[in-house]
Amino acid sequence: MTEPNCFTPGPLLAGRRAVVTGGAAGIGAAVARAFAAHGAHVLVADIEPMTQCTFDSSAGGSITRLEWDVRTACPDGLVEHRPDVLVNNVGHFVQPPHTFAANSPALWDELHEINFAHVLRLTHALLPGMTERRRGSIINLTTVEAHRAIPGHAVYSGYKAALTGFTRSLSAEIGPSGVRVNAIAPDLVETPQVPYEDIVPHEDRHLWPTWSPLCGPGQPDDVAGVALFLASDLSRFVTGGTIHVDGGTHATGGWFPRRSGGWTNRPRNP
Ligand SMILES: NC(=O)c1ccc[n+]([C@@H]2O[C@H](COP(=O)([O-])OP(=O)(O)OC[C@H]3O[C@@H](n4cnc5c(N)ncnc54)[C@H](O)[C@@H]3O)[C@@H](O)[C@H]2O)c1
Repeated sequence: MTEPNCFTPGPLLAGRRAVVTGGAAGIGAAVARAFAAHGAHVLVADIEPMTQCTFDSSAGGSITRLEWDVRTACPDGLVEHRPDVLVNNVGHFVQPPHTFAANSPALWDELHEINFAHVLRLTHALLPGMTERRRGSIINLTTVEAHRAIPGHAVYSGYKAALTGFTRSLSAEIGPSGVRVNAIAPDLVETPQVPYEDIVPHEDRHLWPTWSPLCGPGQPDDVAGVALFLASDLSRFVTGGTIHVDGGTHATGGWFPRRSGGWTNRPRNP
């Protein structure tokens, strides 16, 4: 029986090493700050400089940025960092909604590169070190739309769903080597990619309770808390799964509260 040491107080990632792609802003930045506040040495790989990297450094953690476009070959610096934790966070729908019929193969390639191909490349590059050290946690950022439809973004949702399947099957292969892999499926999280402050006009904000049971929008720190759990020994018996961080939109599916009380899955005035 293992010691229940993960339930003692103290930093959850003391001395661990992590790589977070797209950690300069949004969800990735919140994850990097949370890991560093819990004692991890975090290497942020991003095309942009970090905008928000203030964190409580009393646990001895650090954040360093490596300039890297995830669509290109992995730099040696990522392997040399010897991470125990990898957060594959970069992902994007690339363009406003268009029907699949109006898409071009060039767009499919772009969506493949930004949502799926880099996850395979980086995971493949860092996994041997993790299995050799017999310790690792890989966290893939998918989306609620890997689990339900998003009209106008069929190819994006297809690649995010592929990431979910990759996560599940890889977990079976690498579990015996002491490495876990899980996914986080966000929705309604306020970031530069999804700036609800701009998207939702002030006069519509009272509608948030009709869009998600926990209202919204969620904040990047709401996702970072779950990533911290998945990176740490608190989740040592968790692999192959997806945690939905969406204020409840996946759970409620197409059900909406009525103004008059109760719920409907056939809204007349959506
Ligand atoms: N925000 C949400 O509500 C939401 C919903 C569903 C899924 N997600 C997923 O969560 C993840 C993070 O989303 P976000 O909203 O924080 O994104 P964001 O666009 O706000 O931030 C992404 C970060 O990645 C960096 N980046 C972009 N392209 C890059 C590249 N080619 N190479 C290196 N870095 C690059 C950006 O500079 C930025 O720092 C994504 O995979 C996204 O699909 C988010």
